[in-house]
Amino acid sequence: MPRYLITSALPYVNGVKHLGNLVGSMLPADVYARFLRMEGEEVLYICATDEHGTPAEVSAMEAGMDVREYCDMMHERQKDIYRRFGLSFDHFGRSSSRENAELTKHIYLKLNENGFIEERTIRQIYSLEDGRFLPDRYVIGTCSKCGYEAARGDQCDGCASLLDPEDLIEPRSAISGSTNLEMRESKHLFIRLDLLAPEIEKWVDSHTDWPRLTSGVAKKWLNEGLQPRCITRDLSWGIPVPREGYEGKVFYVWFDAPIEYIGATWEWAKLLDDAVQDGSGEPGTRDWKSWWFGASDVHYAQFMAKDNLPFHTVIFPAMLLGTREPWTMASYIKGFNWLTYHGGKFSTSRKRGVFTDRALEIFPPDYWRYFLMAIAPESDDSDFTWPMFATIVNKDLAGNFGNFVNRTLKLTASRFEGGGIPGGGQWSPREERLQLDVNEALEEYRKCLRQMEFRKGVLALKKLWSLGNLYIDERAPWSLLKTDRDEAAMVLRTCINLVRTFALASSPFIPFTSKRVTRALGLKPEEAAVSMAQVGDLRVLGPGRPFEVPPVLFKRIEEADIEKMTKEFAGESV
Ligand code: 2FM
Ligand code: ZN
Repeated sequence: MPRYLITSALPYVNGVKHLGNLVGSMLPADVYARFLRMEGEEVLYICATDEHGTPAEVSAMEAGMDVREYCDMMHERQKDIYRRFGLSFDHFGRSSSRENAELTKHIYLKLNENGFIEERTIRQIYSLEDGRFLPDRYVIGTCSKCGYEAARGDQCDGCASLLDPEDLIEPRSAISGSTNLEMRESKHLFIRLDLLAPEIEKWVDSHTDWPRLTSGVAKKWLNEGLQPRCITRDLSWGIPVPREGYEGKVFYVWFDAPIEYIGATWEWAKLLDDAVQDGSGEPGTRDWKSWWFGASDVHYAQFMAKDNLPFHTVIFPAMLLGTREPWTMASYIKGFNWLTYHGGKFSTSRKRGVFTDRALEIFPPDYWRYFLMAIAPESDDSDFTWPMFATIVNKDLAGNFGNFVNRTLKLTASRFEGGGIPGGGQWSPREERLQLDVNEALEEYRKCLRQMEFRKGVLALKKLWSLGNLYIDERAPWSLLKTDRDEAAMVLRTCINLVRTFALASSPFIPFTSKRVTRALGLKPEEAAVSMAQVGDLRVLGPGRPFEVPPVLFKRIEEADIEKMTKEFAGESV
């Protein structure tokens, strides 16, 4: 039996993320983790904030804070948002942890020992006024190709050319605006991806089941030929490089970030150790190494947006392979395309699109979870629009699912007052067929989620819900009540069992609503914690069991709401 390790690409610590970030990594991983737990699998779902690098330093500076304090604050803020979205991480760590520093140094030392690290001297821009080297994108000036005045040293937003800082006319520091810049030489370490290329290629080729997007990006990088890549930076915020002459330098943020998948697992294990030491926790089996080192029984799935694919299909694997140690490598890499916002980009600077904190202020998490997974950019980019949001919430959640739950429970409560689930009546061939249809729809749903085909999973779930509406409309218990009360009782009892099935089966997507419904049905914790294989049985809830009618599960979104939201989130025009 494999154990399942799941990681989501680590969100940068600076700034609250938008819905595109959420659907491109954390949310699908959470749906998958919740699903596998319901399948009875052993799951470890890990994520963390990615805290090093210039953007964190600069954001801290702008906030007038010490960079560690800034990261402390932003880590907590993000963690709280993800908790409110129902993301069920086993641990949400921090790449600035001691565990990550130790692992990063270890991996570097092994790479060095094995001949995969080389030293080179490079020329970089130094800002005398800022007292630091400037990464390319922190140098701005006029583009020598098109004359755009705010071009960055790595790329011009005016003409989209890739640039070097030297291509800028009148370069200045993006941090202080100072033009007092000079070229300075500095020693750096490079990982010899060129030497590791054949092994990486072999590893990539051994994964014939990866999504096209993932293999495509990996192959493109490999075909272009791998060059040695710089893994150090002249910065103070980061993991120090354990090598003589490298005082004042740190590892490049992209070197230590993926190692934090392992680091965060170690943090998770340590949390338990600490709890055991102070007596507040039970000694358990949180053995991080058993997941990551020499672990032949671990199936490891990584989730990320497509810009992260090169790092996960080529660079991180190279880092691990080059240690010559048996680190766990990805079994499956699920890459996502972009989520756009009304045909354009989500933009932090222009406040365009919906950000995760604000999203939770306007609608409950399940509206977002379901909608985002229904339009997840799996095989192509997909576009967020408010009319689409309203249609999907109204049709699927309020209509198909919510309405069935409410009309079933309301009708039963009003016509069989005080008696709980009504007794009487016998299943007919129609109910037998319903049971078969439910089993089949559930099978399809499980198959999709096993394969991480989320949009197809949503379709299968909708099909399952439709079986309820089809059945209740066909059997019309409101009419049967007039002619055959026993038969009506049996139909409503079957419908209440469908409510149970729907709520439990949907929980990977809409866990909060699922809980509200199972509470209304009076399920005990152990009854609500059944495995996916047991949710389809339509004879579990028998006569006499008390239940409550929950308030309306999903509010319909009206035309006026759509207009208001479209205006609010359009962003500032350029
Ligand atoms: O692109 C990003 O948002 C990065 N912070 C992802 C890092 S993933 C991993 F390698 F840590
Ligand atoms: Zn230009």
